[in-house]
This record gives sequence, C-alpha cells and structure tokens, in this order.
Amino acid sequence: MSTVPVDDAAIAQAKQLRDQFQRFLREYEFGMREVETKISILRDEFTHMHAYNPIEHVSSRLKSPDGIVEKVARKGIDPDFDVIRREITDIAGVRVTCSFVTDVYRLFELFTRQDDITVLMVKDYIAEPKPNGYRSLHAIVEVPVFLSTGAIPVPVEVQFRTIAMDFWASLEHKIHYKFDGRVPAHLVQSLTEAADAAGELDLRMERLHREALEINHRVIEA
Ligand code: GTP
Ligand code: MG
Repeated sequence: MSTVPVDDAAIAQAKQLRDQFQRFLREYEFGMREVETKISILRDEFTHMHAYNPIEHVSSRLKSPDGIVEKVARKGIDPDFDVIRREITDIAGVRVTCSFVTDVYRLFELFTRQDDITVLMVKDYIAEPKPNGYRSLHAIVEVPVFLSTGAIPVPVEVQFRTIAMDFWASLEHKIHYKFDGRVPAHLVQSLTEAADAAGELDLRMERLHREALEINHRVIEA
C-alpha cells in the first residue's frame, strides 16, 4: 500500500486561508448584527412614540461561501479578499418587511440618515419596478464595526419592502429557481401581472388604513 506524503506546508497554507475566510465572513456577520440592532431599536422606539409598529418582520442572511465563490466567478473578479470586499456588496443582507409603502420610505429615511451610516447606493424599485414587476427599496450601506483591532466599515445590503412585495418576491424566487432561470414566457407574464396586482393591493390597503385612522381620530375627538 502506497502512502501519499503529507505536505505540511500545504496544510498550513490551507488552514491559514480557512482562518482568513472565517475572519472575513465574521466581519459581515457583525455588520449584519449592527444593522439588525438599529432596525430593532427603530421599531421599538417607533412603537412607543406612535403606538404603532411599522415593521411586520425582519430577516437576515449571510451569503454562503459557495454563493460568494459563484458570484466571484460570475463577475469575473479576482478571488482576493480586498477585491471581493469592494465588488460584492451583498454578502450581508437584511430584509425589512413593512406594513405599508409609506412605512417603507419612513423606515428607510430613519435608518439611512443615522450619523454612522454611509449610504453607498440606493435602488428604488418601487418608484421604478423591474421589467418583471419586482418592487423593493434597496440600500447598500456601510456600518462601522468595532473590533479589537479598531473600527472597520462593513457593507450591508438592506432591502425594504411591503408584505405584498415580499409575498410576490418569494414566489417569483421559487419559480425562478424551479425553472433554473428559464421560466416559460406565459408564467413570466402572469408573474408581472401579479406584481401589478400586488402594487394595487398596497395602494388599497394603505387607503383603508388611513381611512380607519381618520375614523378613529374622529371618534376620539368627539
Ligand atoms: P444580484 O447580483 O442578484 O445581487 O443583483 P444586483 O447586484 O444587480 O442587485 P439588485 O438590486 O438588482 O438585486 C439585489 C437583490 O434583490 C437580489 O439578490 C434579490 O434578493 C433581490 N431581487 C432583485 N431582483 C429580483 C427579482 O426579480 N426577483 C426577486 N425575487 N428578487 C429580486
Ligand atoms: Mg444579491
């Protein structure tokens, strides 16, 4: 039986790379936690001040190592930590699902105007939905993370959307995945129509909500 010689140097190098990658991902996890805390403070404070919670739910995710490698290949960039840090800005993602469109913009304003938040990019797919009907308000922000070695800015992608937009996006994502990106044209068409219907529903729900508030105020004032 032949034995393969153990290459200690190669093993040490692989371990070092693994440690570097773990450290790299941890920075994003911390950035994500900072954003989660900010959103949760906004929610609690808003609820106390206005007796109203504008957030339905918040979810977060870190891109998997496989997902990062895939995106490096798709973008054709160097697999170098500094390059990845600069080019891939959705390694940490936080999704804030609000009740109404006005809440989406209100939350976005309250969050992005905080002094320690640097807005790198905003994409308003509510004002301008994607051709398939996708709606959401996206912001790539940098949040400082304080490590034992000092503070570092960490990019986080924050998506603000309504429940109706979220409902649509999660179904569209599943269908997209099921057909491996090659969704039949009639389904694409139906999805786009459904996105428009969801947009209509958002308008109706917001009108209803405002009407209910006005009636409630009149009752209190009477
Ligand atoms: P990615 O390389 O996919 O991250 O796209 P991008 O860098 O051009 O950014 P974009 O703002 O278009 O999309 C970022 C994220 O928004 C995606 O990773 C999804 O979470 C979400 N998103 C964008 N477009 C769609 C869509 O058509 N359907 C669904 N379900 N989600 C979308
Ligand atoms: Mg993405």
